[in-house]
This record gives sequence, structure tokens and C-alpha cells, in this order.
Amino acid sequence: MAASSRFSLAAARCSLFLTAALVLLALSHGAHGHGAGLSSSFYDGSCPGMRDIVRRVIQDARVADARIPASLIRLHFHDCFVNGCDGSLLLDDDLQAGIMTEKKVLANNRSARGFDVVDDIKRALENACPGIVSCADILALAAEISVELAGGPSWSVQLGRRDGTSANIESANNLPSPFDPLETLQEKFRNLGLDDTDLVALQGAHTFGRTQCQFTQRNCTAGQRAGALLNLDGVTPDVFDNKYYGNLLQGRAQLPSDQVMLSDPVAAATTAPIVRRFSGSQKDFFKNFAASMVKMGNISPLTGRDGEIRKNCRRVNKKPY
Ligand code: HEM
Ligand SMILES: *[C@@H]1O[C@H](CO)[C@@H](O)[C@H](O)[C@H]1NC(C)=O
Ligand SMILES: *[C@@H]1O[C@H](CO)[C@@H](O)[C@H](O)[C@H]1NC(C)=O
Repeated sequence: MAASSRFSLAAARCSLFLTAALVLLALSHGAHGHGAGLSSSFYDGSCPGMRDIVRRVIQDARVADARIPASLIRLHFHDCFVNGCDGSLLLDDDLQAGIMTEKKVLANNRSARGFDVVDDIKRALENACPGIVSCADILALAAEISVELAGGPSWSVQLGRRDGTSANIESANNLPSPFDPLETLQEKFRNLGLDDTDLVALQGAHTFGRTQCQFTQRNCTAGQRAGALLNLDGVTPDVFDNKYYGNLLQGRAQLPSDQVMLSDPVAAATTAPIVRRFSGSQKDFFKNFAASMVKMGNISPLTGRDGEIRKNCRRVNKKPY
């Protein structure tokens, strides 16, 4: 082999390696995002009334439906876990634009709710500051306000996300399932840069809201419809507190995916001590929950800061409401 071709082969290998390294770097920055570009003061100049507006709409909705704060935080979770926090969960079917909605995957169909409240928030924000606030940011802020209204911790919400223009059904089909073993849950969280403490803290959101009996440890009782609703936290159903962990310690968490954090063979060395810690100290739980919510909110789409500010969070033909 001639010296020059040996050299170019080496160079090609080297550049291949470099490219791979750069792609990996880009991926790790994208998928595990560091919240680059996000800031808690993002809308201070462009939409100063934002927080009050979001809070007022959620307050109003909560009067008619005590479950709304729980439903809203779950939307942020299901948004962030599918290609980052980009509001893609909110997109309706739009065959012209090649969008197949994530709302119909198993984890969301007849389950994810609160979309009307998100529409109300968006409408109010478009009135006050048209074209400024992203739907992804609405979900992030609504999650924090919801927790706070229910008696939980508050935290400084990082803002400045942009809305994705496509949905991803395949990834939405991979959302955590209530029947996943602990190691699968840990892996799904780890893939997004979330560790065992994040997993245990974030599942603490099951301190409020409802579940259909078909997803519970005990399943439905005879004669109950599969969709019959039960409180996720039987002790304080609408309050955001650490009672959920006490329920878990008594074997009374509703979902199998809750209970595995204590009962799974790998739990003893990983999640179980954290469950006990949070059960013993609401302050410790609140502090960690807030930190984990910021981490979850930092999961950024692979497309980085591309995207748009949607006028209509459902985006049907891009028409405003
Ligand atoms: C570890 C993985 C998780 C699994 C397997 C899981 C599973 C579920 C299931 C099966 C339901 C009941 C849905 C229904 O019956 O329609 C539910 C409800 C809920 N989840 Fe999770 N979840 C997980 C993590 C989270 C996280 C990280 C959050 C938020 C930070 C969250 C917040 C909620 C809330 C608040 C509800 C009640 C919603 C409502 O009442 O509308 N979950 N979850
Ligand atoms: C969603 O749920 C409805 C009602 O149970 C069902 O008819 C429909 O087939 C489901 N959609 C998908 C995509 O599974
Ligand atoms: C719950 O009960 C229904 C009806 O008996 C059954 O079809 C379903 O498989 C059960 N689900 C689980 C997870 O055991």
C-alpha cells in the first residue's frame, strides 16, 4: 500500500472518529440538555404579566375540577420525556403537516388531560402578549404553579423553550408504563439524564391526582369499569405533600410502578433508602422534587433551539384560536 493512501486511510479513520465524537457530544448536549439558553427572567421584558395570567387560569379551572393541577404537571412530564420539552404532546393530528398526535399513544389515550386548560392559558397569553410565549414554557410554568397551589414547593422555572413542529409517536410509545419493572424505569430515566433520586422524587407527584383502576396494583374490583377513578394518594388526595411515601411504605401505593421502588429486588440498594428518606422529611422531599423538576424541564429537543412559538398549541393548520 502506498504511503499516501495509508495516510489518507488514517486521516479518514481519524476524521470518522472525530465526527463520531462530535455527534456524541452534540447528542449528549441535546438530549440531556443543560437548559442552555433558558432563564427564569426570559419573559420579564416581553410578557411581564405571564405568571399572573397562568396562575389565574389554573385557579379558575381548579375551582370546577380539583384534579386539574395534577393533570397539568403530568402533561409537562409526558412532553419532556418525548424528544425534550417542546410542547409536542399538545399537537393534534395534522396529516398535511405529517403530524400524528402523541395524544393517542397508550400512556395518553383517555388518560392525559387538561388540554382545554392549556388552550385557555394560551388564549389569555396571546391576548396579553401575542406570539411571545411558547407552549412548552406554558407547560413548565403551569407545572410549578400547580404544585404550589396544591401546597407543594415552589421553584424558579427556567423559561425560553421553543415549540417543536413535529410529534414522535414511537418515542411516546416508550413512555414509562405502570407495569415496567424498576430497572426499566431506572433506564428510561437514566437515558434522559435523570438518576435514582430524580426517579423517586418525581414519582412523588403521585401525591395528587387520579388513576384508572385498570392501572393499579389491585386492578379493578368486580363490576368496576376499567376506567373507574381512584385517588393516587388515599390519605390526602389533592394535597401535594410527602404522604405518598408513607403509603408506599405500607404497601399502599396505587401503581405497581410506585411500589417497585420499594419491593423490587434491586430497590434495596437503590431507591428504597430514598423512599424512606422522603417519607421521613417533607422538607427533604420538597427540596429534591423542585431540583428534579428543573432537571426534567431541561431535557431539550435534539433540534436545540430550532422550532417556533406556536400561536395555537394544538397547531391545527397553524391558525390561532
Ligand atoms: C416513573 C414513571 C411513571 C409512571 C409509570 C407513571 C404512571 C402513571 C399512571 C398509570 C397514571 C394514571 C393515569 C390514568 O389512570 O389515566 C399516572 C398519573 C399521574 N402521574 Fe404518573 N407516572 C410516572 C411518573 C410521573 C412523573 C414523573 C410525574 C410528574 C412529575 C407524574 C405525575 C402524575 C400525576 C400528577 C398523575 C395524575 C394525573 C391526573 O389526575 O390527571 N407521573 N401516572
Ligand atoms: C383510544 O381509546 C379509544 C377508547 O377506548 C379507542 O377506541 C381507540 O382505539 C384508542 N386509540 C388508540 C390509538 O389506541
Ligand atoms: C385487570 O383485570 C382485567 C379484567 O379481569 C384483566 O383483563 C386485566 O388483564 C387485568 N390487568 C392486570 C394488569 O392484571
